[in-house]
Amino acid sequence: MTAAQRLTGSLAPHAQRLSSVRIAELVAADPARAADLSLRVGPLYANFSRQRIDRDALDALLRLADACALPQAFRALFDGERVNVSEDRPALHVALRSVLGAGAVARDAQAQAAQARARMAKLVDDLVASDVTDIVNVGIGGSDLGPRLVADALKDAHSGRFRVHFLTNVDGSDAQHRLRGLDPARTAAILVSKSFGTQETLLNGKILKDWLGGGERLYAVSANVPKAEAFGVAAERVLPMWDWVGGRYSLWSAVGFAIALAVGMPRFEELLAGAAEMDAHALQAAPERNLPILHALFAVWNRNALGLHTHAVLPYDERLALLPAYLQQLVMESLGKSVTPAGQPAGVDTVPVLWGGAGTNSQHSFFQALHQGTQTVPADFIGVVNPDHAYAENHAALLSNLLAQTEALANGHSDGDPQKTYPGNRPSTLLLLDALTPGSLGALIALYEHSVYAQSVLWGVNAFDQWGVELGKRIAGELLPAVRGETTQVSDPVTRALLAEISRRRSGG
Ligand code: F6P
Repeated sequence: MTAAQRLTGSLAPHAQRLSSVRIAELVAADPARAADLSLRVGPLYANFSRQRIDRDALDALLRLADACALPQAFRALFDGERVNVSEDRPALHVALRSVLGAGAVARDAQAQAAQARARMAKLVDDLVASDVTDIVNVGIGGSDLGPRLVADALKDAHSGRFRVHFLTNVDGSDAQHRLRGLDPARTAAILVSKSFGTQETLLNGKILKDWLGGGERLYAVSANVPKAEAFGVAAERVLPMWDWVGGRYSLWSAVGFAIALAVGMPRFEELLAGAAEMDAHALQAAPERNLPILHALFAVWNRNALGLHTHAVLPYDERLALLPAYLQQLVMESLGKSVTPAGQPAGVDTVPVLWGGAGTNSQHSFFQALHQGTQTVPADFIGVVNPDHAYAENHAALLSNLLAQTEALANGHSDGDPQKTYPGNRPSTLLLLDALTPGSLGALIALYEHSVYAQSVLWGVNAFDQWGVELGKRIAGELLPAVRGETTQVSDPVTRALLAEISRRRSGG
């Protein structure tokens, strides 16, 4: 039986049965629901009771988890089996922070990770002892979003020794603005690129190398060490990456060098320990009490049983404002697939469009559509119980808004005026961190990584390749001579017309 048949077969009758049932009714009819549909893992609490589902449907989802052998799939991931089938590799990001994987492949990865961490710690010490004040991380996608998210989220835990900047876009204005005000004599750059072949990073790396006046304060993190060295980074300043870590799963490796410089090695280790706690839970907890598995099952329920097309991530903490952008890569690059590893159609709707923004700001923007738009958008609301500031009244306002929104979306309201009717019945999950610490952030990110993996198993797609991004890169490479004005030979008639327009409008053209 295919994943698609399993999914549609097992969930459809429950979706049909619940089609006219409202979340508020489910809550009212089941006093234990708020407690029973909640779970704590270390510093992270999750409450799923505002999902549009009842216990029978949840049982069906758990049977699906069983049929898809989710616990065994986690064991295969941790043990270094070649779960990235199309690239014939393991996906061992868990070996960067946990020693739970058994077998030679996993053990070898854990040892390599520990060795690289020790080298990174030494480079952190060297930089601390130097007169460098600013660090520029040059990278894109997974070589940018993870370190940038964590460095930003942990701003209250920064040691203050360095200012950390992130240069990403091939748009030259990004380099122009990032470097403005920095002193090349007191700045170090880290070129982060797993492949060391990414156009954006190589172009920006060249700008940095020239701006720094050579390779003396140039560092690199890459799985392609020879290429990094050929670029001009001294061997002792190149930290390794490996083909068994996907870019979007890599912040736990030396890709997190900028994080370690921002918060110091002990706090970087706490980040890894938080993720390791979630790893142990994902691997060992029974599916019905397994947070990543439950999170994945509700995602599948919303996508395939309720047919919802998008998913919002709404952190009620300004320090997590970059989380939606980070998760867009993690979730959509991992699950934006429509064929199985065997090349057959998945036969089932896979990834929803993921989007979002920080609350309360978003309430004054797109929340209108969440409350009264024609599309139902399931959401993850994320809150932090204890703040790192002394503005107690602000924090009370923040938390009351967070709770109010989940309540309003679920319950709705009507006083008869259609303009002022809130349909409600809009599902959400609430994730609460005790405080935003390196450990709780590590656990939160690892939760999403494991949920994504579980969803990929349920949908029967490979979470660890990303062939979809290649075609555009190839065409951009082919068009470069024409954009430079070296040729007018372009096969696509629309692109040809657009190039002609650009050429006419170019200053001096
Ligand atoms: O184009 C997509 C991608 O390959 C991502 O998966 C990756 O995180 C990013 O580009 C950067 O790649 P690299 O680290 O090899 O420069």
